[in-house]
Amino acid sequence: MIKKDQLYEGKAKKVFQTANPELLIVSYKDDATAFNGLKKGTISGKGAINNRMSNLLMQRLQESGIPTHFVAELNARETLVKRVSIVPLEVVIRNIAAGSFSKRYGVEEGRIFPTPTIEFSYKNDALGDPLMAESHATALNLATPAEIECIKSYSFAINDILKAFWLKCGITLVDFKLEFGRLADGSIVLADEISPDTCRLWDTKTGEKLDKDRFRRDLGGAEDAYAEVMNRLTSHI
Ligand code: TMP
Repeated sequence: MIKKDQLYEGKAKKVFQTANPELLIVSYKDDATAFNGLKKGTISGKGAINNRMSNLLMQRLQESGIPTHFVAELNARETLVKRVSIVPLEVVIRNIAAGSFSKRYGVEEGRIFPTPTIEFSYKNDALGDPLMAESHATALNLATPAEIECIKSYSFAINDILKAFWLKCGITLVDFKLEFGRLADGSIVLADEISPDTCRLWDTKTGEKLDKDRFRRDLGGAEDAYAEVMNRLTSHI
């Protein structure tokens, strides 16, 4: 599949058109940002790792009945995906308190929840991706009530599948962010990526952070952490 015009450049990926209007090529960058783009840097090797990891995880989800945008991995950094119209909601599932949850509610990081939580943010950089109630999302026509129900049930199912998989790798899935899109027929599929950029992954034994928090919080060792997660994934998938 040949790359044609660039359609869009995001903070971590570029998206290209192809000869087929229903297919796009995503190209993963090593660029890393945090705090809505205020902090900028590079995590060398990240693009290739996130490309591979996201594809392997999406294929596993697909096998478990979760529809995704994944079509085929083209090379180290590039993947062919179905063209979707992105639902402008960021969906965050949490198993353990961390990050903005801990800050907002004054709870220590590491507190395990009795059941997973779900929250939505309005995907809008200009507004800083504000947290959003379900009824606000439907009021603004960002998604229909039926679409929100579908997104919620896919998100909790994805959590069950990924949590169990990462546990086999000695990794605790603390929280993660998902994005969904609509295909031409209106059906909802998982889109964007699943990677250490979009998940909090802690070493189950030591509690060491193996994700983008190493970059966000200037902990150092982000490259090694991404490589470690990738190694564990490939030996367990
Ligand atoms: P938070 O605790 O900062 O709200 O993040 C929750 C999860 O969502 C965490 O795994 C990181 C991920 N995330 C993204 O993928 N993109 C973002 O822009 C933000 C803020 C968080």
